[in-house]
Amino acid sequence: MLLDADARRWLADVTFSRVRYEEPMSRHTSFRVGGPAEAFVAPKTSDELSALVLGLADREIPYHIVGGGTNLIVTDAGISGVVICLKPCMSEIFIENISSSQSRVTVMAGTSLRLFCSHVIRKGLKGMNFALGIPGTVGGAIRMNAGTALGWISDVLESITVMYPSGLQEMIGRNALSFSYRKLMLPQLSCGKTFSHQTIIISGRFSLVRASSTDLKHEATEILKNRKCRQPATLPSAGCIFKNPLVGKTAGELIDHCGLKGLKIGGAAVSVKHANFIVNDGSAVAADILSLMDSVRNTVFERFNVNLEPEVIVIGN
Ligand code: EPU
Repeated sequence: MLLDADARRWLADVTFSRVRYEEPMSRHTSFRVGGPAEAFVAPKTSDELSALVLGLADREIPYHIVGGGTNLIVTDAGISGVVICLKPCMSEIFIENISSSQSRVTVMAGTSLRLFCSHVIRKGLKGMNFALGIPGTVGGAIRMNAGTALGWISDVLESITVMYPSGLQEMIGRNALSFSYRKLMLPQLSCGKTFSHQTIIISGRFSLVRASSTDLKHEATEILKNRKCRQPATLPSAGCIFKNPLVGKTAGELIDHCGLKGLKIGGAAVSVKHANFIVNDGSAVAADILSLMDSVRNTVFERFNVNLEPEVIVIGN
């Protein structure tokens, strides 16, 4: 436990008593697994967020930022310190028309990616259909440079606004951002403490072009239909579990060729529909998923000499 009585009194103050203790993270992850967060807070505004992170950094209490929890495995032992959830409070979309053909759309990090995609389709703005069907929040999607065969977040992002542990905010243009496959390196600003705290994505600004809303809707229906055929949608998962190797076969192909579809440990199974998905039959704990990932990695390495790298992020004690 990292939060003593004094820290708990301060947390009650700074969160207007909206802090929750021992909050099961299984409620906040798409895998539906994970032990308790020592404290769990969902700030309502960026001012509340900045007071919170500044105080936590001052007190050297670690915090972890969570969006939709869709690319996350929280261990069964849970998380010490404070989990800050940006969803659903920090979720707004602002559209600014900069020319007859182009709009700039600013989206708060806690906005669901699904909601953002459907909103811009309705408004006749093109550029986000590649992301249809990707779960999670806009902040999480930017952090992970989420993408599909049709495009990546980095293709349409113009700038981001971040908050440093000092509470200071900064807008960073795309040319200063370092994106790679499923990753955005965020600048870290030292706050003079030994403890390292995360830089937080507050919002993203996207450059989208005008198009027919009807055409976009038709395209969206096709994309979602295609996704539904290829990927499991009904059981809890975290999307693709491993990154695709940079060359050669995809992770799904490698796992499939090892005959691992349907392999089970506890309540976790390699999906029979798409081998790069692990699904929770409803009874899995995080340890089942982590053991299954190890087993899949070992088998793929023995058979193909390829080291699969997890796409999901594992946090917790
Ligand atoms: N394949 C198999 N067996 C399987 C699954 C796939 O042989 O069990 C084959 C397919 O037939 C195809 C190839 O592998 O020839 C690629 O499959 P798919 O089109 O499903 O794409 P992917 O590379 O497995 C990537 C992203 C997905 C995204 C899809 C569609 C990664 C790790 N995954 O999957 O993203 O939805 O393309 O664009 O880059 C995610 O990130 O969570 C995610 C699901």
